[in-house]
Amino acid sequence: MTSKLFSPLDIRSKHFRNRVWVSPMCQYSADDGVVSDWHRVHLGAFATGGVGMIMVEATGVMPNGRISIGCSGIWSDKHAEAFRPAIEFAHSQGTLIGIQLAHAGRKGSTMKPWDDHELASIAEGGWINFAPSPVAYKDFPIPHAMTVDEIQSAEQAFVDAAVRSERVGFDLIEIHAAHGYLFHQFLSPLSVQRSLKELLSSCESQQQTGWKVHGILMMPSNFAKYSKKLVLI
Ligand SMILES: Cc1cc2nc3c(=O)[nH]c(=O)nc-3n(C[C@H](O)[C@H](O)[C@H](O)COP(=O)(O)O)c2cc1C
Repeated sequence: MTSKLFSPLDIRSKHFRNRVWVSPMCQYSADDGVVSDWHRVHLGAFATGGVGMIMVEATGVMPNGRISIGCSGIWSDKHAEAFRPAIEFAHSQGTLIGIQLAHAGRKGSTMKPWDDHELASIAEGGWINFAPSPVAYKDFPIPHAMTVDEIQSAEQAFVDAAVRSERVGFDLIEIHAAHGYLFHQFLSPLSVQRSLKELLSSCESQQQTGWKVHGILMMPSNFAKYSKKLVLI
């Protein structure tokens, strides 16, 4: 009997052997953003199961873009290289592997879910959260409202992370624009108090092509400039 679920799928140059894809799942087990044996075993186990694609957890493009102090990051080449063994193992099993690039915005700087308190202080490895406007999430501290330069730095961090992802062998990237994280914050009246005019005019004056709508939506065209091989979803 033929099954669509177990039939292959081609997207651009990528061949997925089936349509069983593993959702990204935060592991809270990185060391200053660097993934470890934990991740290699976690991700590798899915590859041994024969899935078509594994999506790596929400991975911070900047240190202050992580959710928790244990979240993975890809803000340096060292961080990117730490993914390589898991990528190579997935490929050895015929499984493609992607990475979810993320910035948590005002929802960052938490401890790990199993710790006895939620918010990480600076002494515990936490940071000051950046966000579109100084509007706090729940009982979190009021975040720092990003300047236009800081918005553009975040954009560049996503681009740099995409380039690193491709270089280290990832097959695709996913931009995390859900769950109330930074992209989502720019799109919600609950967390953005800036005018569309302010953000768009600042972007256009810099001839930025990356940020659209509230100055923040990443457009595939930006990635097309940098990446010939990655699939963007
Ligand atoms: C332990 C755990 C960690 C998760 N981490 C992420 C994440 O890093 N990024 C994300 O977009 N979703 C994350 N999610 C949500 C899942 O990717 C998925 O969207 C959710 O479980 C719903 O899918 P389902 O209906 O197949 O269970 C996580 C879920 C779990 C259970």
